[in-house]
Amino acid sequence: MKFKYYLRKSSFKKDKSSAHLLLDQIDYHKPKYFLEVGVFQGVTSRNVCEKLCEIHKNDFRYYGVDIFEDSTEEIDLKESTVKHNKISNPLKHFLFNIILKQNLNSMESVNKLLSKFKNNIQLIKGLSHDALKKVNLSEIEFIFLDGGHAYETVKEDLRIILKDIKKNMVIICDDYDQDGYGVKKAVDELKGQVTDIININKRLVKIIT
Ligand SMILES: C[S@@+](CC[C@H](N)C(=O)[O-])C[C@H]1O[C@@H](n2cnc3c(N)ncnc32)[C@H](O)[C@@H]1O
Repeated sequence: MKFKYYLRKSSFKKDKSSAHLLLDQIDYHKPKYFLEVGVFQGVTSRNVCEKLCEIHKNDFRYYGVDIFEDSTEEIDLKESTVKHNKISNPLKHFLFNIILKQNLNSMESVNKLLSKFKNNIQLIKGLSHDALKKVNLSEIEFIFLDGGHAYETVKEDLRIILKDIKKNMVIICDDYDQDGYGVKKAVDELKGQVTDIININKRLVKIIT
């Protein structure tokens, strides 16, 4: 299965090989209960749902957590991974802003992109430290952690997740190699507390709980 962009932006835009590595990991672990923290415009969400459907037909659940805001006002500046929100391509601007009047970062727009899987998905709007409490983490088998990237946020997200997730489940964190972010520090501090930490490539790191 090829990773598709659905005319939207994704953090995997310039790095299709990492996107495919994520899909390969889903193929390998075959989770039925999937959580993505940091949905953005839903591109990875849609690809993940297509993959889960390919593996399990209709028998899977996808949960997506995001603030779903078109502004960085609510979050700390260090968190501003939403900074690429503006549509720079004039054709896309015309289609989404003028014709469809769709804010691509809104929960409504992501729900539309995922409507094919409407019986399998649940999007939860809010900052992760609140929204994660609304997910039954004890049933989640695979997490793609790609929300706030500040050390404090990643550390807190991992703390909440690890408190309730079962043993030998998978958490893949994005942007492990980004110096300005706090992903590496927060993940490295888990050494000795989790079963394993494996580098999938420079960017993606896999935690086995
Ligand atoms: C890098 S983008 C996610 C990209 C998406 N996973 C993809 O592959 O296209 C990060 C997202 O996390 C969200 N975000 C940032 N801080 C957050 C927080 N503390 N709680 C919830 N969502 C957050 C932003 O709104 C943004 O949509």
